[in-house]
Amino acid sequence: MKNILVTGGCGFIGSNFVRLALKSLPDCRLVNLDKLTYAGNLKNLADIEDDARYRFVKGDICDAQLVEKLFSEEQFDTVVHFAAESHVDRSISGPAEFIQTNIVGTFTLLEAARKAWLPSSPLTPSSSRFLHVSTDEVYGSLGETGLFTENTAYDPRSPYSASKASSDHLVSSYFHTYGLPTLMTNCSNNYGPYHFPEKLIPLIINNALQGKELPVYGDGKNVRDWLYVVDHCEAILTVLQKGQLGQTYNIGGNNEKQNIEIVETVCDILDRKVGLLDSEEPRRSLIRFVTDRPGHDRRYAIDASKVRLELGWEPSVTFDEGILKTIDWYLENPDWVAGVLDGSYQEYYAKMYGDR
Ligand code: NAD
Ligand code: TYD
Repeated sequence: MKNILVTGGCGFIGSNFVRLALKSLPDCRLVNLDKLTYAGNLKNLADIEDDARYRFVKGDICDAQLVEKLFSEEQFDTVVHFAAESHVDRSISGPAEFIQTNIVGTFTLLEAARKAWLPSSPLTPSSSRFLHVSTDEVYGSLGETGLFTENTAYDPRSPYSASKASSDHLVSSYFHTYGLPTLMTNCSNNYGPYHFPEKLIPLIINNALQGKELPVYGDGKNVRDWLYVVDHCEAILTVLQKGQLGQTYNIGGNNEKQNIEIVETVCDILDRKVGLLDSEEPRRSLIRFVTDRPGHDRRYAIDASKVRLELGWEPSVTFDEGILKTIDWYLENPDWVAGVLDGSYQEYYAKMYGDR
């Protein structure tokens, strides 16, 4: 890994990855291609922007000319592909962007890598790596028991997960058809610093700090399997270094929680750290059960034994530690939150959710 292209490096997981990669790989050069949608923010990488090994390029992964030019200029040997539209609720209200970025964008990157890395023969061996970052949501919804393994059949239920599933199939097809050196990770829900405050955990932290209502969809008993974002980024580095080409690795934290448990935990921690609300009530009083998300997957849970047994990766942060680190980060960075929730986001939020 000498010349790395990261896509979507200004988003939540991508920015955590860029920071970790520059720290862990002293000899690398890293180019971050990001369109800077509402979810991408240059401030997420302000601390490393002057690193001589780092270059930021504002652009769209669907722009084939730009992507091919970057491959030719930078001679990438590694692609770590994060760029995506990532919020399920937005995929329900406006799926078109998801199809474009997640499917067409992934196809554009695959084509550029194929042209750059396999110019003469589809079977040319290569030391290059194309790692596609995907999600456990492609597997659909679990009942009360069971875990997603790498062999679980795909059964996506939202436009977001369907677009990710489609991109996964394209990646897999480029391995089998052209011999493109691909790797894939399907990870459970991440949380941690730089998480855009429209996703559950940062939204609840932000609203609870401001004394605003805390919307819990349906009965609050949907289950997600939470992983601290830096652990996910470590797993991606491990898969890049040790993964077997053409393989998929499921990444998860073994931290299944119902949404309501998460919301109550955040409320209780904030009550302890910053005191009760002005009304002297605990923050749990802000919880509101609201209309459920259409097609809301009931339970996700990952069997991460393949990446643990074959590659030796394990999460290092427990949920109890990770949620405290995360809350501390949001308490220390109110300006970041205010900065990313700009006027256009407020407009979108009001349109989607009214004034809750
Ligand atoms: P995010 O929404 O925080 O960030 C996405 C980034 O991609 C942003 O910086 C955005 O500007 C950029 N982007 C969007 N469209 C683009 C385009 N057309 N061209 C270039 N850049 C573009 O997302 P995230 O939560 O950091 O997720 C990153 C990846 O990880 C996604 O592929 C997602 O499917 C996957 N994933 C996320 C989670 C999670 O819990 N957040 C879990 C598993 C997998
Ligand atoms: P989210 O953070 O959107 O991630 P995903 O849909 O990719 O799992 O949501 C996590 C869970 O929290 C999901 O079950 C939906 C639920 N949720 C709420 O109950 N209220 C909210 O305001 C949001 C954003 C999510």
